[in-house]
Amino acid sequence: MRTTLPPGEFWQKLAEHYQWLSQKPLNELFAEDSHRAERFAIEVGPLYLDYSKNHLTDETVGLLAALAEDNSLREAIDSLYSGAVVNRSEYRAALHTALRGTPAADSEINQVVDQELTRMTALHAKLATGQLTGFSGRPIDTIVNIGIGGSDLGPRLLTEAFADEAGDRLQVHFVANMDPADISRVLRQCDAETTLFIIASKSFTTRETGSNFAVARDWLEQAGCPGNESSRHFLAATANPDAATQAGITPDGIFRFWDWVGGRYSIWSAAGLAAFLAIGPDKFRQFLAGGALVDRHFREAPTAKNLPAMLGLIGVWYINFYGCHSHAVVPDDHRLSLLPPYLAQLVMESTGKSTMTDGKPVGWSTGPVTWGGVGTNSQHSFFQALHQGTHMIPIDFLVSLNSSLDINNQHADLFTSCLAQSRSLMTGAESTVPHRQYPGNRPSNILLYDSLTPEVLGTIVAIYEHKTYVQALLWRINPFDQWGVELGKITTQELSNRLHTGNLSDSNLDSSTRRLLQRYRKRNR
Ligand code: F6P
Repeated sequence: MRTTLPPGEFWQKLAEHYQWLSQKPLNELFAEDSHRAERFAIEVGPLYLDYSKNHLTDETVGLLAALAEDNSLREAIDSLYSGAVVNRSEYRAALHTALRGTPAADSEINQVVDQELTRMTALHAKLATGQLTGFSGRPIDTIVNIGIGGSDLGPRLLTEAFADEAGDRLQVHFVANMDPADISRVLRQCDAETTLFIIASKSFTTRETGSNFAVARDWLEQAGCPGNESSRHFLAATANPDAATQAGITPDGIFRFWDWVGGRYSIWSAAGLAAFLAIGPDKFRQFLAGGALVDRHFREAPTAKNLPAMLGLIGVWYINFYGCHSHAVVPDDHRLSLLPPYLAQLVMESTGKSTMTDGKPVGWSTGPVTWGGVGTNSQHSFFQALHQGTHMIPIDFLVSLNSSLDINNQHADLFTSCLAQSRSLMTGAESTVPHRQYPGNRPSNILLYDSLTPEVLGTIVAIYEHKTYVQALLWRINPFDQWGVELGKITTQELSNRLHTGNLSDSNLDSSTRRLLQRYRKRNR
């Protein structure tokens, strides 16, 4: 564990404060203050955060807020929104806020975003009225999104959450993995005459996506699609339109986003096209509005009442003082079952860094392992470790007050189950039987909303985006690059060359990798 702290007065003050507070159980904090739950709560639009079941007092909140301000949080927010180069290793802005209508300093940015949304709306109208047709003239009724990482997880999350809205009008599938089991499972459910593929890739150079794109093209050809008709079946969502054109996508089939949109922040852009077509422009715009609402709050609210800032600061408090390296996200709403893997990319690609923005090594702990699962399913799998394991793992519970889908009062049971986890993790329980003892004192946040809507999901996603920004600021790392994934890509290419040429004998190859490649070659001779 890295125990060093970044330099600065408030890091030191927090370290001293930790010596005292870490001796005080959560139960005691509640017993001493009957208004604790009222005071440690923040409301933003449709979201209510109760963060009272955390190891903190007014003094902790004051010190954490002072830490953020001492690290120039206000200026950092202004830089983000204005389009300054906040991604310094790639010399780029990170203007995902402009995708949801938050004004950028350069108003042209907002204009190009609007133009692309207008094009997406026109495409939706053509699809909905049967004017988009495949090679045989039959209307398109199936979308297959081919993309990976941010070009998959975002639109997949949105579509899964609001799939009911798409009804039977349109089938929407997602293919990400290069394992042929993924695309073949999807293609079995598709009719080539009525299927439209969206090749979603910011770079348009991603190996997995290119490979699945090639499989889709072959499949169409084998199904009788003439070469000159195949462009009816492919759209691209990309920041590299030249590469899409070279791959045979027609210009009016290319939907743009830009290099100032990071892949894991691209859900709001044309990278979300599959979801846009599935849930429709109105719902997509509500989703954007939820994000914009959080942007306003993040910019205007004082730090101690700033929801994303406080979530970020509480995370830092646990990671850098309590030594927690893992953070669980547990949405109760089944329609948010893809939120934990979505946030795993957002958080771990953004804050899983050990080099500071100035190029020097980081001396302290940074981004947590972020994971989770839906509410009651998780209670019957990994909650054992959260209650009685040796690690303290802070949790965010997300739960609604109401569900339009409710049957037999199931929702009330879901709600109480969520509160029961949060409460018992905190209170623990004594027993004379050793294995029935619960240590308690385990922190959690509750993010509460009325019922799940696109606007609510927009607020949730934007909150976590800004939370990672706050944390990256304090850890002095760049949340917008992802150099860590490059080595794996280069090594894959190298091993692929070796596998195909049989060049396995030189001393640069470790014996483990060599023997495993040899076994593969032998098996597939
Ligand atoms: O390799 C990581 C990554 O670049 C992610 O950041 C990104 O979301 C994903 O790959 C897909 O990239 P692209 O959209 O360029 O295909």
